[in-house]
Amino acid sequence: MIIAVDGPAASGKGTIARALAGHYGLPHLDTGLLYRAVAFTVRRLELDPTREADAVAACDFDDLTLADPALRDDDVGQLASIVSAHPLVRASLLQRQRRFANQQGGAVLDGRDIGTVIAPDADAKLFVKATPQIRARRRHTELQSRGDTTSFDRVLADIRVRDARDSGRDAAPLIMASDAALLDTTFLSIEESIRRATVLVDAALAAKAKTAE
Ligand code: CDP
Ligand code: CDP
Repeated sequence: MIIAVDGPAASGKGTIARALAGHYGLPHLDTGLLYRAVAFTVRRLELDPTREADAVAACDFDDLTLADPALRDDDVGQLASIVSAHPLVRASLLQRQRRFANQQGGAVLDGRDIGTVIAPDADAKLFVKATPQIRARRRHTELQSRGDTTSFDRVLADIRVRDARDSGRDAAPLIMASDAALLDTTFLSIEESIRRATVLVDAALAAKAKTAE
């Protein structure tokens, strides 16, 4: 069983994907972390993120990087959206994500292109959205709790830039898969978002079982 959860920054997809993984007893992969690790490595090695060859070299990052809390920094997210637009970077991370998705027993993955590129045959697909304002408020609160003093206006501007970059790129742009269920979390608490996500996944699984009969 493969569950694909896609959506823009701070829409709640990670929180939802983690909860779904717990609920269905499946392993979870936050694919954004892979792109963040590439971005972080580009910066550490002082490479040029706009040069595809430089970004590809950084795809060979040490797996220990994935556990570095600095990957969650706002500027690493911005840099991730620059390196992730290179087709060869996406190609270089593809197999790792596909292997995770297709492991025995299934998996939950969250990102931007899980339902469209990584696991187009996923059993259940969710597209999570929320207004830029509420997403910026959530991310701002998150950053504050980590002692990061980035202003709300800056976080909102960064979210808008990243949305435009992720949606406007040619390689695997952020778009909702035609067979995904839409979940707008703008006015939902975390608990309610998770509850509705579970209802949507159950409905997708039931529909799939019915067509298989
Ligand atoms: O957590 P947040 O939504 O802020 O970002 P993330 O999921 O960690 O992703 C960081 C960046 O990686 C995104 O802005 C995308 O540009 C890129 N990304 C991607 O292109 N494809 C994915 N499957 C996941 C992330
Ligand atoms: O993975 P993504 O960047 O889409 O978002 P997230 O990390 O799951 O959520 C971003 C922040 O919003 C976290 O601090 C969540 O706890 C919070 N959140 C919320 O306040 N209300 C929701 N309905 C969903 C998430």
